[in-house]
Amino acid sequence: MFEFDDAPKGLARLIYASRSTQPGGPGLSEQVRIITAKSIHNNRLANITGFLAFGADRFLQLLEGPVGEIDATFERIRHDDRHTDLVVIGRAPVERRMFRDWNMAQHQVSAVDQGLLADAGLTAFAPDQLDEDGALKLLGGLGGRYRR
Ligand SMILES: Cc1cc2nc3c(=O)[nH]c(=O)nc-3n(C[C@H](O)[C@H](O)[C@H](O)COP(=O)(O)O)c2cc1C
Repeated sequence: MFEFDDAPKGLARLIYASRSTQPGGPGLSEQVRIITAKSIHNNRLANITGFLAFGADRFLQLLEGPVGEIDATFERIRHDDRHTDLVVIGRAPVERRMFRDWNMAQHQVSAVDQGLLADAGLTAFAPDQLDEDGALKLLGGLGGRYRR
């Protein structure tokens, strides 16, 4: 019998890149810690999961969840003056989540990730240069241990 649960879930995924208004370094790691703590709290209430990669002064974030919650959350993120030069890399309906156990996992990109960057066509962590396929490949690699 057809159940309501079989109806489309209205799940969406949004990926964007941005640049921190604070230079990379210990101050940025502390700022990301604060952002992540707030994000985990808010995203849990909104049924959003995702992944935030940062390195040097760059951010690459993937958000997934109910389409209305994604848009409302991104509207707040867009206006946050802790970052600038936001580039939306992709926004699309999806069937399933990539990071379903994590309201916001985070990862600091470092030299050990050079191979993953190269696989995505980058020589440095410059996520604004990625298209959606490249971003998904890189996020899948960087976030490998958070996925299930
Ligand atoms: C790089 C970056 C990523 C962020 N990610 C999220 C997020 O996933 N969820 C969220 O609620 N806020 C996120 N924020 C924070 C929002 O911009 C905003 O400060 C926060 O949602 C406000 O929450 P409040 O209204 O509960 O104080 C992020 C901010 C930055 C700079």
